[in-house]
Amino acid sequence: MYNQEIFNSGAHLFLRVLRHIWDLGFQMAKSIAMLLQQYGIKSGNLLDLGCGIGRVAIPLAKMGYNVIGVDRTKLFIDEANLQAKKFKVEDNVKFINCDYNQLLEKLRGLSFDGVISVWTSIGFGSEEDDVNALKQALNLSNDNAILILEVENKLRYAGPPKKWVERYDDLIVYREGFLGEDSRWRSKWTFYSSEGTFLGEYGDDVRFYSSEELVRIVEKAGWSAITLFSDIFSLKPFNPDSNNIVLVAKKL
Ligand SMILES: C[S@@+](CC[C@H](N)C(=O)[O-])C[C@H]1O[C@@H](n2cnc3c(N)ncnc32)[C@H](O)[C@@H]1O
Repeated sequence: MYNQEIFNSGAHLFLRVLRHIWDLGFQMAKSIAMLLQQYGIKSGNLLDLGCGIGRVAIPLAKMGYNVIGVDRTKLFIDEANLQAKKFKVEDNVKFINCDYNQLLEKLRGLSFDGVISVWTSIGFGSEEDDVNALKQALNLSNDNAILILEVENKLRYAGPPKKWVERYDDLIVYREGFLGEDSRWRSKWTFYSSEGTFLGEYGDDVRFYSSEELVRIVEKAGWSAITLFSDIFSLKPFNPDSNNIVLVAKKL
């Protein structure tokens, strides 16, 4: 059960979650643009790794950046293309259905001033896969390019198995999972309609990182870590109790 079902056979249900949190993408994009501007990136080319339905890539394109989003889930890329049309940014944003371990092959000839990956879009393969993808992104980046990664903070998930419920208007999602000794979060998502109809049940399996581990893999890939924040909305300094880790790194 614990594989990538959530982005394969469960993609149609996860799509509903992504649609419900669409608006948050605009706030995330605002923080990302603010960070990029602090490092002098006021325009230029951005790469969004694991872009989903484009809820961050599209607002960034609206702000004038040229954005390439890559995601291996075709259903999400199809939705991202529809949204790009709706928001009239087809000229500034392109979505590519591929694995981000194929960046050098699929994005040959392109170069980026910023690379982003938000809402834990890395970790679904092995740690080596993450290093490899970040290395490929570095190779496609210009000098002084900035990398912004937002992931769950592993420390928050340590200890006994966790259970909670999330509501997205007409969708209720029961979540339960545990952090294995191999630092992989194995979790089950059970979807119900608000009337109580069972809609489906899927598992995922993702490598969670502590801040030290995240810095280590980013530097292993050749990026230089600059700073850490606790979450992408407030950009408060990181502390070990933070729900998330936002890491900013640079290509020196
Ligand atoms: C939790 S979702 C986040 C989506 C998006 N970043 C957002 O914030 O809405 C993680 C995304 O990563 C994508 N993904 C996971 N592993 C991937 C890989 N190896 N290559 C490309 N996309 C991947 C999934 O298809 C999914 O869309």
